[in-house]
Amino acid sequence: MPQRDKILIVDDEQPILDSLGDLLEQRGYAVETALSAELALQRLNGGDRFDLAMVDYLMPGINGLELVKQVKQKYPDIVIIMFTAYGTIPIAVDAMKSGVADFLEKPVNPDELHFIIQKELRYKHAIDQNAYFMAEMAKKSSIENIIGQTEPMLEVFEQIRQVAQTDTSVFITGESGTGKELIAHHIHYYSQRMSGRLVQVSCVELAPGVIESELFGHVKGAFTTALQNKRGKIEEADRGTLFLDEIADIPLETQTKLLRVLQSKEICRVGDNKSIISDFRLITATNKNLEQRIAKDQFRSDLYYRFNVVEIKVPPLRDHKEDIPHLLNHFIRVYREKTNNPIHGTTKAAQDALMRYDWPGNIRELKNAIERAFVFCHEELIDIRHLPDTVFDDNSKLSLTPTPDCTNLAIMEKDLVLKCLLKTNWNKTHAAALLGIPRNTLKSKMKRYGIPDQPP
Ligand SMILES: Nc1ncnc2c1ncn2[C@@H]1O[C@H](COP(=O)(O)OP(=O)(O)OP(=O)(O)O)[C@@H](O)[C@H]1O
Ligand SMILES: [Mg+2]
Repeated sequence: MPQRDKILIVDDEQPILDSLGDLLEQRGYAVETALSAELALQRLNGGDRFDLAMVDYLMPGINGLELVKQVKQKYPDIVIIMFTAYGTIPIAVDAMKSGVADFLEKPVNPDELHFIIQKELRYKHAIDQNAYFMAEMAKKSSIENIIGQTEPMLEVFEQIRQVAQTDTSVFITGESGTGKELIAHHIHYYSQRMSGRLVQVSCVELAPGVIESELFGHVKGAFTTALQNKRGKIEEADRGTLFLDEIADIPLETQTKLLRVLQSKEICRVGDNKSIISDFRLITATNKNLEQRIAKDQFRSDLYYRFNVVEIKVPPLRDHKEDIPHLLNHFIRVYREKTNNPIHGTTKAAQDALMRYDWPGNIRELKNAIERAFVFCHEELIDIRHLPDTVFDDNSKLSLTPTPDCTNLAIMEKDLVLKCLLKTNWNKTHAAALLGIPRNTLKSKMKRYGIPDQPP
């Protein structure tokens, strides 16, 4: 029998818990209730797992919005529907920003509620299935799991899944650090060729004189350092996959030879005139703009059209920031296993900073930031002060509004005070220590510059 979906209802009014609980149980869900946000958190922290939570907006103690933020930070997979008797647009916008999937006004219409729950759970199960599929693939091939639950990433996964089953040439594009190499590996290990070799050549690292002998191989005596015969990478990829990474950097003369190989699947080793057949599937990738290079006659358009049969465009991280909590959980788990460090999450300040930052280096930069935090943080939660200065500086710019009638020196001083407060999570003793001034002096400077006593 399929497992029933588990729903947690959180409301401070018992009659609502009873009526909604009955309603959802009748529709086949396993329902639990909590009379406050605190009790809901206790259940979750105690290990109870839920697929979906329905949260009331206005509750004494921790309110609905705060509960959603805490739940989403620790348990990003739970779908949350919020309901309120005071349904106003600003509340709904705030709720959606905190990760609420849907927003309903009280009194709740049973049919509408059931429809929304069904829709959200169907979506969640599709995501879970995709995550499961990706994790299975990674386990099978012992390669790193690909994380992503947002629309743009699900589209990429769907393309990987479809294209992997074919022998079509795939061209992967996207900014540096977005996961192109990881995707190429997944395509190979999910294809019919998974038992063959995945041969990877980074075209950017090879000097023009070496690239041809690397790709096509050479025979003994072909050039002065060719002391013996050597198989090329294309030959090695026979019955497997050839992954030409950084394809934009192949020199023009090699492009012509490569085009011939792609047309005939036959290679001649350098210095030889015998041809060898290689049956390989081609994957290429680049973070450069190839069309621009073609326009400048730096890249052959016929070669481009030969390998660009299916293009997978990997989005930059700033276009799927909602994946950041999932990526954080993943990288924290990975580094915890590697290092025995007790870190199991981030503070709210750190999470906010990580969400605000634009990640020009994409997922690689985020991964490096977490690896770095594992060096500097010896507490359970990564805090903003454990993050690289780039992330931190970018965030501090937001609050550094210069005071209009100050001299430049004063503006700099205000900026510095703010920066240290941000870095220490508004802990005035620590901030004063960082600035090298007594705590009282810091307090008077804060007053002079109109800096609030608590974080804004
Ligand atoms: N979706 C993802 N889930 C988990 N890890 C990821 C994901 N995308 C990328 N990574 C990790 O981020 C790092 C960078 O990824 P990758 O090397 O594939 O980027 P790239 O697009 O090839 O970058 P470049 O253009 O600089 O070569 C790798 O360590 C990779 O494992
Ligand atoms: Mg790469």
